[in-house]
Amino acid sequence: MNPLRKLYCRAYQLVFRIALPFLPYREPKLLDGVQGVADLLVSKNVHQVLLVTDKGIRSHGLTRPLEDALAEAFIGVILFDGTVANPTVANVEAARKLYLDHGCQAIIAFGGGSSMDCAKACGARIARPDRQLDRMEGLLHVMRPLPLLIAVPTTAGTGSETTLAAVITDGETHHKYPINDFALIPPYALLDPEVTIGLPPRLTATTGMDAMTHAVEAYIGGSTTRGTRQAAVEAVRLILESLPVAYEHGGDRTARAKMLRAAYLAGTAFTKSYVGYVHAVAHSLGGQYGIAHGLANAVLLPEVLEAYGPAAHKKLGRLAVETGVASVRDTPAQAAAKFIAKLRKMNADMGIPRTLEGIREEDLPMLARNADHEGNPLYPVPVLMDAQELQALYRLVMPKTEETANDTAGNCTGGAKPETILLDGENAAPGVSHRSA
Ligand SMILES: NC(=O)c1ccc[n+]([C@@H]2O[C@H](COP(=O)([O-])OP(=O)(O)OC[C@H]3O[C@@H](n4cnc5c(N)ncnc54)[C@H](O)[C@@H]3O)[C@@H](O)[C@H]2O)c1
Ligand SMILES: [Fe+2]
Repeated sequence: MNPLRKLYCRAYQLVFRIALPFLPYREPKLLDGVQGVADLLVSKNVHQVLLVTDKGIRSHGLTRPLEDALAEAFIGVILFDGTVANPTVANVEAARKLYLDHGCQAIIAFGGGSSMDCAKACGARIARPDRQLDRMEGLLHVMRPLPLLIAVPTTAGTGSETTLAAVITDGETHHKYPINDFALIPPYALLDPEVTIGLPPRLTATTGMDAMTHAVEAYIGGSTTRGTRQAAVEAVRLILESLPVAYEHGGDRTARAKMLRAAYLAGTAFTKSYVGYVHAVAHSLGGQYGIAHGLANAVLLPEVLEAYGPAAHKKLGRLAVETGVASVRDTPAQAAAKFIAKLRKMNADMGIPRTLEGIREEDLPMLARNADHEGNPLYPVPVLMDAQELQALYRLVMPKTEETANDTAGNCTGGAKPETILLDGENAAPGVSHRSA
């Protein structure tokens, strides 16, 4: 990135960092079970509610206890279960139409990030009937209160139940973009481990690594506070401890509850301290190819952290020490390397691949332009990259051909050279040693 643009990005980030304590962040009030949801709606005199979810969740019967509790409280439920992964503008508009046609008074966002984001964007459109979604992209383009919104996450990943973001895809252009506004922070949420018990291992793994990505990107960014650092550290600790258990033993309620807590904490961290290029790149891949968000993040995270190189060592090293992955005797570079190795091992142990299929070389300029547009100037990343430089991050996770195998990793700005890293006291699993897969 050219020095003038770098200066602009850092100045922009500094302004937001200085403004941070004065911005109207809040956290949702946590409700007590599905009865808590019904009681709240009764207390607010709500008679008709829009339930935004997806077909998979409904077919698993996950919404049934809530629907029963609402029926007992004589609250009508209008169902929108058409949310797709990487929810689209069309999903949001269809949900909004149902809300208006049936005179709903509140929205329940029930599902993973896709359903929650669809519900949040639907609320934004109801608040701003004059403004199309694409004109809400970026920061603070909603600026009006949404209808009453209750979020019930069924994956332990996105943290959307506590963030100011909704990420929406334009179904025609495949552009996936975040809408960020304080009005999108749900005022109420229900963290119920029971609804995550049946989340299949692969989704448990990838959505869990999405939460890990939130915590790590927030922690190593340049706009942290003591509170967001603490939340990120606690989230990483919980994920290191509980994700392997939830993956192996889906019915373990303690592990599921800890993962929900971790995703929530990571959400509180990144909503104030931002994410980084892992997310900017993952969003462009989700929009263009429909690659699942958690999978894209899980695969990208270790590669992008390594590509940041020495600029990320200090903070990543500190995170590694604080979460028990490295020891205080390690240098920052060693501690950072151990953390990256730990991520690779977790991925390998949970069957997450090293590369992402389907990325086309000819799409890279467009994908990288979208990532540049999302990430710059807002994300306070350790190493700034322009669209040209961001292309290298995609190549890091593209399956290697013989031609590209030798020269990919060195192309990044951070310029860290690959090396084989063994974790403390254990041999790295096959595939953990760098990029031989
Ligand atoms: N708003 C934010 O702050 C934020 C943060 C990160 C990601 N996101 C967005 O969230 C979306 C991804 O959300 P996600 O990773 O939670 O996945 P998702 O909502 O797309 O769900 C993935 C799949 O899991 C299924 N599923 C969900 N819960 C289940 C359960 N308990 N049991 C069985 N199946 C279940 C769904 O039916 C769906 O098929 C992306 O669009 C991403 O960009 C938003
Ligand atoms: Fe995410």
